[in-house]
Amino acid sequence: MQRSRHGRSQAPASRIDGQRPQGRARQRAYLIAALPDGDEHELEELRELLRTAGVAGVGELVQRREHPHPNTYLGSGKLQELKAELGRADANLVACDDELSPRQERNLEAALGVPVIDRTAIILDIFAAHAHSAEGKLQVELAQLEYNLARMRGLWSHLERLGAGRIDGGIGTRGPGETQIETDRRLARDRISALRRKLAHVSSSRAVMRAERERAQLPSVALAGYTNAGKSTLLNALTGATTGVRDRLFHTLDPTTRVLRVGGRDYLLTDTVGFIRKLPHQLVDAFGATLEETRLADLILHIVDASAPEDEMLAMMKAVEDVLHEIAADEAPRVLVLGKADLISDERRAELANRHPEAVLVSALTGEGLGELTERLEQEFARKLRAVELMIPYDEGGRLAELHHLAGDLEREETPQGVRVLARLPATVAARYEPFALNGRR
Ligand code: GTP
Repeated sequence: MQRSRHGRSQAPASRIDGQRPQGRARQRAYLIAALPDGDEHELEELRELLRTAGVAGVGELVQRREHPHPNTYLGSGKLQELKAELGRADANLVACDDELSPRQERNLEAALGVPVIDRTAIILDIFAAHAHSAEGKLQVELAQLEYNLARMRGLWSHLERLGAGRIDGGIGTRGPGETQIETDRRLARDRISALRRKLAHVSSSRAVMRAERERAQLPSVALAGYTNAGKSTLLNALTGATTGVRDRLFHTLDPTTRVLRVGGRDYLLTDTVGFIRKLPHQLVDAFGATLEETRLADLILHIVDASAPEDEMLAMMKAVEDVLHEIAADEAPRVLVLGKADLISDERRAELANRHPEAVLVSALTGEGLGELTERLEQEFARKLRAVELMIPYDEGGRLAELHHLAGDLEREETPQGVRVLARLPATVAARYEPFALNGRR
C-alpha cells in the first residue's frame, strides 16, 4: 500500500511511505490542530501516531478557535503563517489532529502546496501495517477505500494546481479529468463490493472457528492494549513453547489466536488490534470481528507499555478502557500487565509497584514475570471453576479424553461401573457433564 492516493491504482492508498526514519526522515510532517482550548499535551498522541508510522515531526501549530474553519480548517492568517513555517522547517507533509472533510483537505493542500493527511488517514495507515490476519487486512483495505472514495471528487483539477500531474482540459462539462474520476470511483466501488463479499466469506469461516472453539469449551483470554504496547510479542513469548501439537488441533484458528497450556489446562489467547484514543468510527466498525473477540473473552489481559512516562501510560490506559467500554467489553475481569520491564529502572519499578499494586510486571523479551502472569491467569479462572464428581462409563472413553483436556489435572479411580472422576471444570462445561454427575457432588 505504498502508492499515493493520487495515483490511478485502486490499491488502498497511503500517503505514508512506512519507512522508519534513518538519519534525516524522508517524511517530515508539520503537525496542526484547531482547538478551543487545552493543555500542552494535546498534540502528544498525534506525535506518537506519526512516530509509529515512521514519520518525523518537524514543527507544530495550534490555532485556538471554537470550531475549525469549514473550508480551510485553519483561519486565513494562520494558514499564511503555516505556509511560511513549512518552508523554514523544511516540512514536506502536514498532519492534522482532526478528521478533515474532503473540502478542507483539498483547500489546505492547494494553499500549502504539500500533501495533507488527517488523523484518520494516519491511523488507517498504521492499522494497515499492523493487520496480521487475512480478515484484518481485508477490513483495513475496505476502511481505506471507503475513506478515499469520499475524497476522489475534484481530485484531478486539484492535482493540476499542485503540479502533481498535467490534466488536459476538456470541452464542455465532461472533460477527461472528470471521466477519470468516474472511472476511479466505479473501480473503487467494484473493489469495495468484492471486499465485502470476501469479508462475508471470511466471517463465515470465523463463525466456524468460533464454533470449533466453543465445542472445545476452552477458556478464552484476549490481549488488549494500546497500539505498540507489546501484545503480539507477549503472545509469542507466552505461547512460543506450547505451539505445535495443540495448535494443529485448531488448524482453522486465526494466526492471532494461540493455545496456552498452564497447569495441565488449555487456554485460548487472542491478540487483538491495537487500541487508539478517539478510534475513528470506521475502524470500530471495520474491526468489529476482532473487537468481538475481546467482548466475548472470559478474561482480558490489558497490556501497557510500562517504559512510557507515567502520564503517557495513564493516557494510553484510559484510551483502552474507553474503547473497551465503547464495545461493551468492560464486564470481563481484567488483569493489568505492565510490559517491557527490561526497559525500566529500579526506581521506576518501585514506583509502579506502589501505584499499580494489582498489576503484573513482565518482559516478553527477557521472560521476566511470565511465570507470575500465567499463575495469575490460573487463579483468575480457578475462581470460576466448579468441583464435580462424575462417573464416566467405560464405553464413553471419548468423554474421558475430553475431560483430561478441559480439566487438566484430575483425580480418577477405576470402578466396576466406570471411571470415577473428581475434577474442577468451568461452569459451562460442568453443565454438559451433568448427566454423569454423582449425587455426592462436592
Ligand atoms: P500493535 O500491533 O500495534 O497492536 O502492537 P503490539 O501491541 O502487538 O506490539 P508488538 O508486540 O508489535 O511490540 C511493539 C514493539 O515493542 C516492538 O518493537 C517490540 O519489539 C517491542 N517490545 C515488545 N515487548 C517488549 C519487551 O518486553 N521489551 C522490549 N524492550 N521491547 C518490547
